[in-house]
Amino acid sequence: MTTGSPRVLPADSGIAEAAAVLRAGGLVAFPTETVYGLGANALDARAAARIFEAKARPSFDPLITHLADAADLPALVGAVPPVVAALVERFWPGPLTLIVDRPAAIPPIVTSGLDTMAVRVPDEPAARALIAAAGVPVAAPSANRFGQLSPTRAEHVVAGLGDAVDVVLDGGPTRCGIESTIVDARGDRPVVLRLGALPVEALVEAVGEVTVRPGSSGRPVAPGTLAAHYAPRTPLKFGAAESAPGGGGRRGFLAFREAPTAGGWAAVEVLSPEGDLTAAAARLFDALHRLDAAGVAEIVAEPVPDVGVGRAINDRLRRAAATWH
Ligand code: TXA
Ligand code: MG
Repeated sequence: MTTGSPRVLPADSGIAEAAAVLRAGGLVAFPTETVYGLGANALDARAAARIFEAKARPSFDPLITHLADAADLPALVGAVPPVVAALVERFWPGPLTLIVDRPAAIPPIVTSGLDTMAVRVPDEPAARALIAAAGVPVAAPSANRFGQLSPTRAEHVVAGLGDAVDVVLDGGPTRCGIESTIVDARGDRPVVLRLGALPVEALVEAVGEVTVRPGSSGRPVAPGTLAAHYAPRTPLKFGAAESAPGGGGRRGFLAFREAPTAGGWAAVEVLSPEGDLTAAAARLFDALHRLDAAGVAEIVAEPVPDVGVGRAINDRLRRAAATWH
C-alpha cells in the first residue's frame, strides 16, 4: 500500500512534463475516452515491469500498447491482416483494441510472453498528445489495482494507486466510462475477446458476423476476461430491486433508469434517467465508486438492456458479482 500522493497535472498544460517522465522510465496515469490508463514506455522492459508492480497485477496478464496515430501501426508492426486493417480504418482512434503479432521492438513482459500484442489508438486528445510527445508507444492497463474498479476520474487513480504512479494527468471524467472492446481479427471471422465501449453491433455492421467469446479464460486472455473482476470492495449482487436483503445491513442500489420507490435503500445511484446506455456506461464505474464509499454492507445492481454497450455493462456487473460468490 502506498500513502503518498502523486503529482497531479492538468491534462493540457502537463503534457510535456508527463512525456518526459515516460521517456525517463516513469509511470504516468492519463485519461483516455474509456478509462484512465497507467502508462509506461512500451519499449522499456523495466518501465513496463513497474506497471505490474504498481497495480499488483499478475505477470500473466498482458498490457495494451497505445499509439498516438493509426499511421504509427505499420511503423511498429509492419503489414497487418486485412480485417485488422479494415477495423483500424473504420474505428481508430476509438475504443477498439486489436490483437496483432508482437513486434521484436516490444519486450515480452508487455505481452506476458505472448507472441501477440494488443494495441489501440485512444480517441482522447490529451492521450494522443502525450504519446506523441513521449515519442514512444505507451503500454497501459487501466490505472487501478488489479481486480478493482476501473478509474474514470483522476481522483479514482490517486485514491487507488497513490504515489505508486509518478504523475497523474487530470482530464476530468472519461467520456465512455467503460474499457475498450478487444477483438482478435487476425483470421477471417473476428473474435470479440472482451465486450467494451464499442458495441458488437458496430463491429458487425463494419465487417460482418463476429464471434463473441467474453467468457473465454485460458492463457492468452486475462483480467477483463477473468470471471471475477472489476469489483467494488463492497459485496455486489446482480439482481432486481426486489431481491431479498442480504445480511440485514444498510444496502445500496444501482439502478438503470429509475430509483426504486421502496426497499429502504441507504444509497441509490441511477445510471441514466433517460434510459440511454451510452450515458449509463459513462457513469457506471463512478456510481460504483460512490456506492463503495457510501458505507453500505451490500450493493444490488440491476441488469440493463442487453444490447449495444449494455452488453458490456452487464458483463462488468456479472464479473463484479462473481467476486462475491
Ligand atoms: O479501454 C481500455 O482498453 C483501457 C485503456 C487504458 O486503454 N485499458 C485496459 O487495459 O482496459 P487492461 O489492462 O485493464 O486490460 C487489458 C486486457 C488484458 O487483461 C487482456 O485481457 C487483454 O487486454 N490483452 C492484452 N494483450 C492481449 C493479447 N496479446 N491477447 C489477448 N488479450 C490481450
Ligand atoms: Mg483493467
